[in-house]
Formats: sequence, C-alpha cells, structure tokens
Amino acid sequence: MKYPKSQYSRSIQDQDRVSSPFLVKYSAVATGKTGKAYMNVILTDKSGDIEARIFDQVPKFNAQAVKDAYVQVEGHAQSFNGRIQIHIKNLTVLREDEVESEEYLPASFLNPEKIYAEAKAIIASMQDPYYRALLESIFVDDADIIERFKRAPAAKSFHHAYPVGLLEHVVSIAKTLDFLANHYAPYVDRDLLLVGGFLHDLAKIWELQYEKTTDYTTEGRLIGHLVMGAELIDRKIRSLDSQPGRLPAPFPVEKALLAKHVVLAHHGKMEFGSPKEPACLEAVIVHMIDDLDSKVNAIRVFIEQDPNPGMWTLLNRNYERFFYKPEWARK
Ligand SMILES: [Fe+2]
Ligand SMILES: [Fe+2]
Repeated sequence: MKYPKSQYSRSIQDQDRVSSPFLVKYSAVATGKTGKAYMNVILTDKSGDIEARIFDQVPKFNAQAVKDAYVQVEGHAQSFNGRIQIHIKNLTVLREDEVESEEYLPASFLNPEKIYAEAKAIIASMQDPYYRALLESIFVDDADIIERFKRAPAAKSFHHAYPVGLLEHVVSIAKTLDFLANHYAPYVDRDLLLVGGFLHDLAKIWELQYEKTTDYTTEGRLIGHLVMGAELIDRKIRSLDSQPGRLPAPFPVEKALLAKHVVLAHHGKMEFGSPKEPACLEAVIVHMIDDLDSKVNAIRVFIEQDPNPGMWTLLNRNYERFFYKPEWARK
C-alpha cells in the first residue's frame, strides 16, 4: 500500500492541520531556553522544504526522524517569524515501497537533454585539438560521467542546489565565457576559458551524493572537487596519450598545467579552498564568472521562494540583507 501524498510543503498555510508523508532532509536535537530538549527538522517533497519542530517524545522521534527517512507526519502548521513551521505531534517511519519516491525529489524544471546539446555544440566549436579532445573524452565519450552530469546539483544548498543544477551552471558559464573570449580577444585563450568553465565544478558529480537529499561523499569531504577535478584531467590526458592517433602529438605539458591550474584556482582564494590563486587571465575570468553565476542563481532563487508578501524579502542570512522583490516575485 502506498501512503498518498496529500499535502505539499509549499502549499501549507498557517493553522493548517498536517497529515501527509514527507522525506526528512535534516534533523537535530536542540535545547530550549528552559533546558528542555526539542528537535529541529527540515522536511522536503518535490515542492520544496518546510521547517518542523518536535517538542514531545524527543528521544523516540530522534531515532525515527533521521535524514533520508520517509515519515508520515501528523501535526499542525504555525507561522513563526514570517515562516511556516509544522509542529509535529506524531510521526511514523514509512518503508521505501510505501511511497512514490518521485513525489519527494525536487521537481526538475530544466530539460537536461536540451542543455546537454548546447554543451556539446560549444565543445564542438573549440579550435585547440588538445583542449577539445580533453573535453570530448569527458563530455562525449564517458557515459558514466555524462549520466551523472545530466542530473547532479551544483551544490548542497548555496546555489543551483537542485537536479540538473550543475549542467545549468556550467552551460550558463560557458556561454558567458564565449562572449568574454571575444570581448577580450586576442589576450585570452577561448579554449582554455572553456576548459575552465566545463571542468571547474565537474567533480561535484562525485563530491556530492544526490540520490535522495544532497550531501557530501567521503571522497568529497576528504579531497574535494577542485583536486578531484585536477586528478580527472590527469587521468583523461594519460588515456588520450595512450590512444594511437587520437591527438596530433603527445598532450603538451604546458596546456595540461594550465587546464589543471584553472580548475584548482577557481575558488579564487586559499580560504575558499583554492590551493592556488588565479595566476593567468583565464583563471581570473573563470573564477569571477563562476562567482557571478552562483550568486545570481542563489539570490534569484531566494527572491523567488521568499514567502514574505510585498516588496521586500525576509532577511537573507548569507548576505545579511533584505532583497527588493520586483513585480515577478511578488505574491
Ligand atoms: Fe567550485
Ligand atoms: Fe561553479
């Protein structure tokens, strides 16, 4: 028997009675001002996330409301600081076969095949035979990478944090880099810019796990997508060099170093995880366009999902400011 998904997090209003299954995205025990333990929970479904609190039977529910568990929630909704919270009175853990799993994955409003076709067209337009072969060996020849690249998010929470988000982010950057390559010609190498645009975050397909809710993998926590990306470049270049006739000559050492540098330097500063700061124009540009694209997406989604009526959003804690809501975002 399947538990029917009767309520979606985005449509729950203040004072609604809640009785519906959800997927647990996050849960933690906290201590209130009186010293009593309670639980902070984030529930999710394909419409988005909703906060929840559990004030009673905390030890029992703490063992049940664990990340990635499906739970049937009974409770009621209450507005708190302008946000809707569910006060959970009771919950029951559901088995995987008792739910329709597609009801709980964020709905993808993007068409991965269409964006992937754009990516391939940009790669096909590259002039440098070495850089083009490097990207083709990854985005045209490697079925496992392509399959993951078409569905991965670009981050756990900050930007493009939904399925197909990585593909959207990468192609958005590649198009911007294409424009800037022209704008700054002849001083920048268009193909090296594109190598950076396409590869800078690619290792997120292994840094994150995203079968249900998104989290870091062990490889992601221990190594991270910058170094994993540089390792991928190494592996692919070795494989290209071992295929007779694939390249006009062995992959030039300097081009290999520059490709790895652009990936390793893309966070811009050591405190943001880059082992090297950008040391060529292409690395500076890739870093700044990556930063721009991720911020535009993060702020756009924040404004779009803001529940506050009227002209201003609630406080954005990442940016410590309120954002103005243009006509398209007003409820
Ligand atoms: Fe990155
Ligand atoms: Fe990025």
